[in-house]
Amino acid sequence: MTQPQAGTFRCLSSICTHSGCPVTEVTTTIECTCHGSRFSLTDCSPTVGPAVEPLPEVALTVEGDLLVLS
Ligand code: FES
Repeated sequence: MTQPQAGTFRCLSSICTHSGCPVTEVTTTIECTCHGSRFSLTDCSPTVGPAVEPLPEVALTVEGDLLVLS
């Protein structure tokens, strides 16, 4: 789960699109420590390879104070 802007939430798969390791760190990017791929917090695209595909997004809705997976 990320919040790239206040009130805007995104839910992403935590499985790296390179070879399936779980991404393990979120700093200024989402990082997979298996082979060094990094993904953008704003659009999930890879900013550093070897991954070439973005992290898949999971549909999410905001219902009051709750975040609900669709
Ligand atoms: S599995 Fe993530 S970089 Fe290779």
